[in-house]
Amino acid sequence: MVTHCYIKKLKLHNFRNHLSFELDSSDNSVVITGKNGIGKTNILEAISLLAKSNGMRKAKAGEMQNRFSNEDWAVHYGFFNGADFNSIGIAKNFNKKLIQIDGKTQSSYSSLYRISNVIWLIPQMDYIFLNSSSDRLKLLDRIVSLFEENYTCCYMKYRKAKHERSKLLREDILDENWLSSLENVMAVNAVNILRMRLSVLKTLQDTIDNHSTEFFPKASLKFSSQLTLNDTAEYFQSRLKGNREKDLLTGRTTFCVNNDKFLVVCQRRDVPINLCSTGEQKLLLLSIILSSVKARCIYHNKAPLLLLDDIMSHLDKHYRKVLIEEILSIQCQTWTTDVDRNNFNNYIDSFKFIEL
Ligand SMILES: Nc1ncnc2c1ncn2[C@@H]1O[C@H](COP(=O)(O)OP(=O)(O)O)[C@@H](O)[C@H]1O
Ligand SMILES: [Mg+2]
Repeated sequence: MVTHCYIKKLKLHNFRNHLSFELDSSDNSVVITGKNGIGKTNILEAISLLAKSNGMRKAKAGEMQNRFSNEDWAVHYGFFNGADFNSIGIAKNFNKKLIQIDGKTQSSYSSLYRISNVIWLIPQMDYIFLNSSSDRLKLLDRIVSLFEENYTCCYMKYRKAKHERSKLLREDILDENWLSSLENVMAVNAVNILRMRLSVLKTLQDTIDNHSTEFFPKASLKFSSQLTLNDTAEYFQSRLKGNREKDLLTGRTTFCVNNDKFLVVCQRRDVPINLCSTGEQKLLLLSIILSSVKARCIYHNKAPLLLLDDIMSHLDKHYRKVLIEEILSIQCQTWTTDVDRNNFNNYIDSFKFIEL
């Protein structure tokens, strides 16, 4: 049986424009409506903190602080993780964030990432396939983190070691032990990162090919890496060591999993997504996100939280209906924002509506 993660209760305190906001959603999907600038996206942003330290807008803790209050912001989530309830608190603490799970203060984000399971589609992602390859890779990383609970921690360890190694090279601190130990951390985690990326891509492609409805366009997911699955951590480490001089000169890490390429091709037209129309790109992106949620249900019996910001304004009447039916059939808790509640007129009983 498929279980799903959901937020039962959400409380925002001094978060962005919400001085005090409280919502009891049970396990229903939520539709937040209200005029532009009222604070709909801010609520989704608060939820996205469960999965990403700076949230879906990539903002610092200080930016989330309500401008008119001196009291630090805090968000509280009554969260069902698919098996148990957790009481989660995230609060601004100087310029960092304090995380509490079931009353215990956490020293890092890892335990939060292991519990939470959230994916989103926001207007800022509209041009993701026209943007840099690192943005596309970030989308893949978000999807992989839905399936692999250790992925984000693994990636953070890799990135931290990579930054430290670049800093040592830049500052000409050529301490062999120090560099080797950083390159070892990078290598061990890079091999795992590649393994997890490839395994999730396979699962996702299988879901797109065999389990998606005919209503959304289908994507072929393409991926390439400098590393192969047969490469060991020792091999990766030796490549890093051999590249030190080159990396110092170029200011880049020439051999690394950040250079992996994630590309999407529209199956029906057999053209890369960046050559499709804006509308087609949006539908393909939506179909990839929905397939990720579906894949998680099919292969892991667990549905993540899905955040859809302003999605309806991009869809015609036919696709609005298709999307709502798809959300309801997947049975994940979805948080959708929209300016117009009428878009959900035929589904009044299927959602919890919040008018701001
Ligand atoms: N740190 C902050 N303090 C107070 N208000 C903020 C802060 N950050 C953003 N806002 C306000 O939040 C509103 C935007 O909220 P948003 O959730 O994006 O609206 P929408 O309902 O259109 O999605 C704007 O009015 C903006 O001024
Ligand atoms: Mg908005």
